[in-house]
Amino acid sequence: REENTKKRCAVLQLFLDTANVEEIKEALTWGVISGVTTNPSLVAKEKREFRVLVKEICDMVPGPVSAEVISLDSKEMIVEARELAKIAPNVVVKIPMCIEGLKAVKVLSKEGVKTNVTLVFSANQGLLAALAGATYVSPFVGRLDDVGNEGMDVVEDLVILIENYNLPTKVIAASIRHPMHVLEAARVSAHVATVPYKVLESMTRHPLTDIGIVRFLDDWAKVQKELIR
Ligand code: G3P
Repeated sequence: REENTKKRCAVLQLFLDTANVEEIKEALTWGVISGVTTNPSLVAKEKREFRVLVKEICDMVPGPVSAEVISLDSKEMIVEARELAKIAPNVVVKIPMCIEGLKAVKVLSKEGVKTNVTLVFSANQGLLAALAGATYVSPFVGRLDDVGNEGMDVVEDLVILIENYNLPTKVIAASIRHPMHVLEAARVSAHVATVPYKVLESMTRHPLTDIGIVRFLDDWAKVQKELIR
């Protein structure tokens, strides 16, 4: 397993896990975000018309934007997915992991509609999604940790499976709760980690950085004063 991990050298991409346009606008200026993921709970918080919001986010973000279907029947999922895919070329349709979801992914992948199979809690679920043709699979790390499992193990297993069998699917480490999750996702060579804005912001911080900035500026100011005298 360790050898497998060492061989890989792809770059971890960071997506922002939010439907809030202000957060997206701000994070984009930092130059570290290459996509966005949303889910019905995140969209509901914004209290905006879904399709209008998805369009606005797609126009802002140069990379993939995941928008989720709410149907539970494959035929209805497909109809919803086709409509979402029409909004913008960078829409990725999020489909919940279930048999109906797999059926929908199979059809959609043949049509060239990009999919992100969500609510993945085991490597077997992720493997099935990849075999059905999912563009992305999203194992939920934090929610697995919440119930006493090691969420990152699912990410690691999936990355190994997908790369060993040369499947084109990418693994998104989702349900990221803190900066260590991002580091762990990078250590197991996840293709993507999708992070809430708060987590992204806390990744920028270190108390020694703040102390260092203050000390540099103090030293600088002291000499400036002496020079003026
Ligand atoms: O990307 C999935 C994510 O939005 C779920 O996160 O914190 O609700 O488990 P959480």
